[in-house]
Amino acid sequence: MTRISVTVDGAKYSDDVEPRMLLVQYLRERLGKTGTVVGCDTSNCGACTVHLGGRSVKSCNVLAVQADGQDVTTVEGLSQNGELHPMQKAFHECHALQCGYCTPGMIMQSIDLLNDNPKPSEAEIRDGLEGNLCRCTGYHNIVRAVQTASGQESKADALEGSAS
Ligand code: FES
Ligand code: FES
Repeated sequence: MTRISVTVDGAKYSDDVEPRMLLVQYLRERLGKTGTVVGCDTSNCGACTVHLGGRSVKSCNVLAVQADGQDVTTVEGLSQNGELHPMQKAFHECHALQCGYCTPGMIMQSIDLLNDNPKPSEAEIRDGLEGNLCRCTGYHNIVRAVQTASGQESKADALEGSAS
């Protein structure tokens, strides 16, 4: 066992973990942060994406011991004072989810994308989200949500107007 100390969604934790324990297992099984989900276990789908030290990582691809001494933010830590994060609001407003399984990872990755590039083009959004898979294939509205969160109107919105 190895002792780790991490801050997750603003709360400090110290725990003994197996060196092989994945960060996603630690978050879900030890801390009960089940908002972060597992879609594949092979680092393909991105459903498990969280922020580690302020950058997005696939938490099934990181060991819990690698998070020692760092800040972790999950989708559960995004809202502030009962207010959804602007990216969460945009996903809600743009109907950017169907079954919702990919949504936590999509939101975490989208926030990281805008941190790097506050006004991405549609191609840059699609490129930035290529590591996140939506099995419901709802990519169009996910792109619209990221455009909305970045303060940009999508071409589709401009064409559809109030009908969208
Ligand atoms: S569960 Fe981590 S990438 Fe799919
Ligand atoms: S909304 Fe179902 S997997 Fe994306």
